[in-house]
Amino acid sequence: MIEIDDLTVRFGGVTSLDGVTVRLERPLCGLIGPNGAGKTTFFNVLSGFVTPAAGSIRAFGTDLLALPHFRRARWGLRRTFQTEQAIESLSIFDNVAMVWEHTTSGRAGRDEDVLRAIAFVGIRRDPHAKVGALDAHERRLVELARAVVGKPRVVLLDEPAAGLPDEETEQMGQVIRAIPTDIGAMVILADHDMNLVSGVCEETMVLDFGQVITSGPTADVLRDERVVSAYLGGEAVTS
Ligand SMILES: Nc1ncnc2c1ncn2[C@@H]1O[C@H](COP(=O)(O)OP(=O)(O)OP(=O)(O)O)[C@@H](O)[C@H]1O
Ligand SMILES: [Mg+2]
Repeated sequence: MIEIDDLTVRFGGVTSLDGVTVRLERPLCGLIGPNGAGKTTFFNVLSGFVTPAAGSIRAFGTDLLALPHFRRARWGLRRTFQTEQAIESLSIFDNVAMVWEHTTSGRAGRDEDVLRAIAFVGIRRDPHAKVGALDAHERRLVELARAVVGKPRVVLLDEPAAGLPDEETEQMGQVIRAIPTDIGAMVILADHDMNLVSGVCEETMVLDFGQVITSGPTADVLRDERVVSAYLGGEAVTS
């Protein structure tokens, strides 16, 4: 359970998050909203890249804002970015191991954990293949493996399937759906792909101009008229 109260972020004259108050209770949560709505900013505040002007975040009882960002990673907060973070000249294994080392104390169990994360996301290649040799789908899976390695408690996914064709997006959705049961972490999935969000997320929150328009069961949220008009410019949501 993540409890967010009155979260506000300003960049100069721009208010990117404006008094966001929301409770995320389900293990699979969606985060939707038009371009510039504040989704990535929301993740940046949770992960510690941005300091809010006001507000509080409690995740499973922990005051996240009281922890510096490296401590949040050790606490179990993971994220992916809209742009790829994996290093092309390193292997799949080393890219995932890097996150493990950054977030785990000691070294025991590293190789098993890393290989388990790579297998979990469904990468079939030799883990020692260089990321630079992978196709777009496999590279996205490496990003996902980096987000689930070790013992994450909350995994923030920022448009993890952007640019992938439908079939690969569907496969990625199946992996994401398995994160709560197989990895033991809660997921917040920010995406523009309504099929992905409705197929994966039990509850969804909607941001527009930095404010929560609504949140609740995904099917209800996607039917909400305020969401249809804010997010889709009046077109009905089909899934
Ligand atoms: N570091 C920053 N400095 C100034 N303005 C910023 C910064 N980060 C975000 N913003 C502004 O905050 C608002 C929200 O941006 P954000 O990237 O969070 O939107 P988003 O919902 O992730 O959009 P998209 O769907 O395009 O990824 C935008 O107006 C953006 O220009
Ligand atoms: Mg974004």
